[in-house]
Amino acid sequence: MILITGGAGYIGSHMIKYLQGRGEPVLVFDNFSTGHLPALRGAPYVQGDLRQPQDLNALFQRYSIECVMHFASKISAGESMRAPAEYYEVNTLGALQLLTAMSRHRVQSLIFSSTAAVYGEPETVPIPEEHPLKPTNPYGESKLAVERALPWHESAYGLRFVALRYFNAAGADPEGELGEDHHPEEHLIPLTLFAAMGKRESIAVFGTDYPTPDGTAIRDYVHVWDLCQAHYLALQQLRAGAPSAVYNLGNGRGYSVREVLHTAEAVVGKPIPHSVAPRRPGDASRLVASSDKAHRLLGWQPEYPDLSSMIAHAWQWFQRYPHGYRG
Ligand SMILES: NC(=O)c1ccc[n+]([C@@H]2O[C@H](COP(=O)([O-])OP(=O)(O)OC[C@H]3O[C@@H](n4cnc5c(N)ncnc54)[C@H](O)[C@@H]3O)[C@@H](O)[C@H]2O)c1
Repeated sequence: MILITGGAGYIGSHMIKYLQGRGEPVLVFDNFSTGHLPALRGAPYVQGDLRQPQDLNALFQRYSIECVMHFASKISAGESMRAPAEYYEVNTLGALQLLTAMSRHRVQSLIFSSTAAVYGEPETVPIPEEHPLKPTNPYGESKLAVERALPWHESAYGLRFVALRYFNAAGADPEGELGEDHHPEEHLIPLTLFAAMGKRESIAVFGTDYPTPDGTAIRDYVHVWDLCQAHYLALQQLRAGAPSAVYNLGNGRGYSVREVLHTAEAVVGKPIPHSVAPRRPGDASRLVASSDKAHRLLGWQPEYPDLSSMIAHAWQWFQRYPHGYRG
């Protein structure tokens, strides 16, 4: 079976549904610190913490795991600046403890959720995998430390891995059963839709003087269901004995904050209240992935590369569950 750490979270919960739809047995490991029990939709789970080696050892002792998809993590770059120790503790130490438990129990396949934050300020755009790795926050550092540990675990213990560097995950289950429910929510698309729903007064556009066509910052959004497809392809590759690899996952086409706002207005069919605010320190003007490698070597073909599908699916979920998993 496939172990999904962080399966109660946004991306992990979609992964459960994606794998179950393909007849793959799954098991979830989560401490429910930010995840939601209903997001598991009845999938089997073990409640435990990455920081507790005994939780991990008991899990691998009891279940026969073929491959681990490691989503469990703290995810806010901003928060990591204020609480770096927690990021190293969960994201780096927690992942290393997972690797130790895996090698002790001879589990040798890992798909690791990495991030565009490992690159830092881009020197070239679109950003290829060989771009220098210079994170500008502890979140990116805490993930990069794990990425750097993986090849050493491969040569010493026979681990095989695929590290996937996601750009901005967006959207929701196309069938509307699952969605994004972060507390606090920091991502632009859900915040924009909250403003459309009246759950918040307005959405702030941080910075209108970037060197971009409309002056607002550009990000590369990737549909959560397409991230799941990439994980599934990575699993097939590991099963087929392909070498370990690192891939970017983005759409190679960035959208500005204003484009997100206008697309969201088209999806919801009304203007969305917004305000203009100064740039936030540390925000890059343009973060766009080159995902050529994932297309060529993983065979990844995003099904929903357009921003309007991502926003429409997120909107479908928020309309159905305006209070998220709390009903
Ligand atoms: N959301 C994005 O845009 C994005 C972008 C790049 C990378 N990522 C990566 O994708 C992964 C999933 O992100 P997400 O948005 O689904 O996050 P999320 O916060 O929704 O989910 C994380 C899950 O991990 C669990 N968890 C956290 N700490 C744990 C611990 N110590 N022990 C056990 N479980 C723990 C939480 O309860 C939650 O269910 C993360 O590794 C994140 O760094 C996300």
